[in-house]
Amino acid sequence: MRLLTAAITTMALTLGAQAAVAAPVEIKFSHVVAENTPKGQMATKFKELVDERLAGKVEVKVFPNSQLFGDNKVLEAMLLGDVQMAAPSLSKFQKYTKKLQIFDLPFLFKDMAAVEKFQNGPEGRELLNSLQKKGLVGLGYLHNGMKQLSASDPLKVPADAEGKKFRIMTSDVLQAQFEAVDAVPLKKPFSEVFTLLQTKAIDGQENTWSNIFSKKFFEVQPYITESNHGVLDYLVVTSAEFWMGLDDDLKVEIQKALDEAIKHGNAIAAEKASSDKQKIIDSKRSEVLTLTDAERAQWVEAMKPVWKQFEDQVGADLIKAAEASNN
Ligand code: SIN
Repeated sequence: MRLLTAAITTMALTLGAQAAVAAPVEIKFSHVVAENTPKGQMATKFKELVDERLAGKVEVKVFPNSQLFGDNKVLEAMLLGDVQMAAPSLSKFQKYTKKLQIFDLPFLFKDMAAVEKFQNGPEGRELLNSLQKKGLVGLGYLHNGMKQLSASDPLKVPADAEGKKFRIMTSDVLQAQFEAVDAVPLKKPFSEVFTLLQTKAIDGQENTWSNIFSKKFFEVQPYITESNHGVLDYLVVTSAEFWMGLDDDLKVEIQKALDEAIKHGNAIAAEKASSDKQKIIDSKRSEVLTLTDAERAQWVEAMKPVWKQFEDQVGADLIKAAEASNN
């Protein structure tokens, strides 16, 4: 009898001790692109670093390819606590702040070095806080790259885009950009773009080399104009409620892992901007068109008035600071 009592006591103590061990904090990281992209690789690296350093304390689960949420739903889901991290394109935040629209202004940044300089400067750092009032925390920028125009017909000058339907992200600036060349912009989720192009429901779209390659847009778009007319970068975000609920030590470790993962993702972004472009050229499925200076000047002239249209929302000083990063 005494033996049985001892065994029951031991069992109860063991179970109690197990219950007292806190379950790891779960971070569901949702994104819309393929795993072999800068964002996909960044998310994988983040998971690896957290597994290595915070095993038992934090568990990261990555959901690529819009498996969990499309970009148009993910921020709402985050505020409801259904997902803890995401990295939507900066063009997808306009419901939450108008300030990030700066990144969509056409021909504002001459290259990724300018984007990097602006993001790391005081104005860029400050923009990370622009979502606070909406319950979101910006944890860092991540690069993808400069956008190109793909279409079913060659686009050399703005008049070539007239009347053509282009898929855009959910951004009023991008809408204005295509309206400026008398094209018809349609806001559609990333997950639908391939089918829209394949079925010819739309004529074209704008995206980076890595997205055009990884989502096979080049297989259903005979022409890609190397326009470098805008930037597609990301903001890694979490909800304020989730972030504030973490111990300070854990926050520091998670942020550190994320910063390293972003660095890794940015290196991949730079590499893919040239290697994915080359793979598209080599495939011969799509012709890559380059613009002469005079042709490019026509696009700039047609699209640049969009800056003025959004100056009140974005802020003239912010636009000036972004422009200065080109020097
Ligand atoms: C992404 O790179 O996350 C998607 C971009 C897009 O919606 O075009």
